[in-house]
Amino acid sequence: MIYFDNGSTSHPKAPGVADAVRDIIERGCFNINRGGYAGAYEVADLVFSTREKIAKLFDCPTGRQVVFTGGVTLALNIALKGLLRPGDRVVITQMEHNAVLRPLAQLRAQGVVVDTARCFTDGRLDLSDMEAKITERTRLVVMTHASNVCGAILPVREVGAICRARGARLLVDCAQTAGVLPISMRRDNIDILAFSGHKSLLATQGIGGLVLSQELAGEMVPLVAGGTGSYSETADMPAELPDRLEAGTLNIPGIAALSAALDYIEETGVENVYARETALLKHLTDSVNAVSGVRIAGPSNLADKIAVAALDFPDMDNAVVAARLDEEYGIMTRCGLHCAPDAHKALGTFPRGAVRCSLGYFNTETEIDLFADALKQIVKGR
Ligand SMILES: Cc1ncc(COP(=O)(O)O)c(C=O)c1O
Repeated sequence: MIYFDNGSTSHPKAPGVADAVRDIIERGCFNINRGGYAGAYEVADLVFSTREKIAKLFDCPTGRQVVFTGGVTLALNIALKGLLRPGDRVVITQMEHNAVLRPLAQLRAQGVVVDTARCFTDGRLDLSDMEAKITERTRLVVMTHASNVCGAILPVREVGAICRARGARLLVDCAQTAGVLPISMRRDNIDILAFSGHKSLLATQGIGGLVLSQELAGEMVPLVAGGTGSYSETADMPAELPDRLEAGTLNIPGIAALSAALDYIEETGVENVYARETALLKHLTDSVNAVSGVRIAGPSNLADKIAVAALDFPDMDNAVVAARLDEEYGIMTRCGLHCAPDAHKALGTFPRGAVRCSLGYFNTETEIDLFADALKQIVKGR
């Protein structure tokens, strides 16, 4: 079996993740802020230290600004629906995932105005179009850090500087880049960051989060209200982070997994993860380019992308190629629109979709060679 669907979820997970989940369940997976006993305090320490690790990874001032959610989709919904009001203006890009597009479609129906900055046919953002669309009236800019379809990295720092100059807030969807690209909320003027634990952070599904300032959280209406184990006498959600946006019991096994995965990433070094994945991407790109009848949609310069390659077979049905890779060669890719229809429109692969190979830190050159051999056979026999 060869797994090239890490953009969907990473496999395998970081060494230590499975043991960390087993360990906390066996030792006592108690709730925090609710029980006055040693086991609950131990778990509270774990949650606290994991917030601190996330704050360090994204260069944000304190762990208190880290809100855990069930994943990046929920994090994005909390941010968008909590912050935006009828009449607010938002700018997004053509590379956005449905986790951004669909909540915004709901908000549009309530009077939020959404404008989309163009991307080039290789998926890179047209920064001058973005710059023209961000005005003094823009409340929020929402952008993915890298496309989950073609891997294009979007210029967060440049957009952050424009937002700062024009008084707009910047929300970055780091689903595909957390753990692979260095991210600094301070340096890049990122006001809100949404992340997912189960992709390149190499932890389990069901854990992700939102990182933001106390000031911004104060401007938000909490999407979810409920128990926090704090200020229980009041009907309103607490004002302070993280409680303000974190109602209900946390996913403690997920946080244990995330903590172990963050330790692994810290030991390995984000820059080494990126270097390894880029070396694999180069091997994949060279190998695919040697096969006739297939093109890679997306940036041609590898420095402009993460290790995701969208393969398009102009003379074949892409879905059939993906199915044959799986059934005949045991190679797992993902075909279709990857929950990002506008990205495919920009890339010229709508509505047929593309065969996405998303590599991970644990893939190997040998797997890529086997993949290239399989492609040659499939193309030859078409
Ligand atoms: C860029 C981007 N944003 C958001 C998501 C949604 O992630 P999840 O389904 O884990 O919430 C994904 C998942 O593929 C993604 O790639």
